[in-house]
Amino acid sequence: MRESLRGATILVVDDEPAIRDALRMILEYEGYAVREAPDGEAAVRAVAEDRPDAVLLDIRMPRRDGLAALREIRKVAPGVPVLMISGHGTIATAVEALREGAADFLEKPLERDVVLRRLEHVLRASLPPEEEDERWKIVGSSPAIERVRDFIRRAGQAHATVLITGESGVGKELVARAIHAASPRASGPFVKVNCAAIPDELIESELFGHEKGAFTGATTRQRGRFARAHGGTIFLDEVGDLSLRAQAKVLRALQDGEIEPLGAGGPVHVDVRVVAATNKDLEKEIREGRFREDLYYRLGVLPLHVPPLRERREDIPLLVEHLARQVCRENNLRPRRFRPEAIAALAARTWPGNVRELRNVVERALILAPGDEIGVEDLPPPGGAGQVGGEAFFDAATLREFKERAEREFLRRKLEENGWNITRTAQAIGTPRSNLYKRLEHHGLARIGPGQRREETP
Ligand SMILES: Nc1ncnc2c1ncn2[C@@H]1O[C@H](COP(=O)(O)OP(=O)(O)OP(=O)(O)O)[C@@H](O)[C@H]1O
Ligand SMILES: [Mg+2]
Repeated sequence: MRESLRGATILVVDDEPAIRDALRMILEYEGYAVREAPDGEAAVRAVAEDRPDAVLLDIRMPRRDGLAALREIRKVAPGVPVLMISGHGTIATAVEALREGAADFLEKPLERDVVLRRLEHVLRASLPPEEEDERWKIVGSSPAIERVRDFIRRAGQAHATVLITGESGVGKELVARAIHAASPRASGPFVKVNCAAIPDELIESELFGHEKGAFTGATTRQRGRFARAHGGTIFLDEVGDLSLRAQAKVLRALQDGEIEPLGAGGPVHVDVRVVAATNKDLEKEIREGRFREDLYYRLGVLPLHVPPLRERREDIPLLVEHLARQVCRENNLRPRRFRPEAIAALAARTWPGNVRELRNVVERALILAPGDEIGVEDLPPPGGAGQVGGEAFFDAATLREFKERAEREFLRRKLEENGWNITRTAQAIGTPRSNLYKRLEHHGLARIGPGQRREETP
């Protein structure tokens, strides 16, 4: 049963107590709340008093028969679906009832499965459409993004490992979450692991867990991310950044469906669906000896390449609208329109940071634009330059403060230029990734990039 149907109230109307009892038992067992009425008159009264979510209505009854009761119920509560219960010789009446607005009819003898199926069907049809979760919505109408959506639908039904590739900021994580949401595991956990952010010495215990005392410093037992994803999906982000040593461990987990926490006596079985992503060219990594070919094939059973934004420019107008709505909601800003010229100007840019970069530009324009609409003049110049007045550094009172401000601004710009991709930014500015993480934490920067905003799912 759909979760929202649980607890729905069903009014059972029949003059035979045995039938009411039987229906009550079947329905309550499924989680419905049941009310009863012994005849048509009582039924109409019951509906008027307190609207049920659906009515099961016998046709042949004393006092007021089912058809007459149906007409009254349609008047007092037109939105409530009514299922007629038709006995021997009342089929013609049941058909008439459908014309009078009954949602469906059931024939005696009643069969449990049929009753439940038809009831669920009419209940669903009477509910408002399920609210779409805006956060994981894949926006766009280009053929390229249609193919992505189609892939998500199909991959959602499968169990095989998915490998998502694509430039930074194209929406790889969004796709991973959408696959989880489209799968039978949707109500289970989605656990994200940023493989690039975990130091090599810790990766094994992060992924697979450890027992207390398994190594120096292991003062408590820790459940690994694989174990936490049991029944759900684990998302191995930036999988191309795993060390060869860690790759071997992950390969074993994929091959055997078993993990071995450090210091544990033996392997543990986990039921986890693996989705991985990378913006590296893994084939090149393989050629250069940095990525295991066998792991590549294990991961890429269902491969998806998410195309860069410049190859699907026709999605930009819809994306701007969607991202603007999202940004306004998150920042409590009043919603404003982007003028067509502004949208055209955005559609013409090259977007090395893809959708994430577009989102940053939309966000900045909404925050800084003074007018009622966003025009071309409100857009930051292309290329990520000139975002914050450089003078701010020179207002610093001390050398230390100057250095702090300059470093923060430098890092922010470099991150932006690299689509908030930590690995790429670290390479670009010639510092180890771990040091970059430290500096970002120091400046509180890790949390202001949209891509970094979501915390890891515990
Ligand atoms: N088609 C889309 N529709 C709506 N929003 C999108 C779409 N594609 C990406 N986004 C948004 O753009 C931002 C970046 O997407 P995401 O984090 O999934 O990219 P990524 O490919 O994982 O990037 P990186 O390689 O840098 O990790 C997110 O805010 C995401 O919600
Ligand atoms: Mg990502």
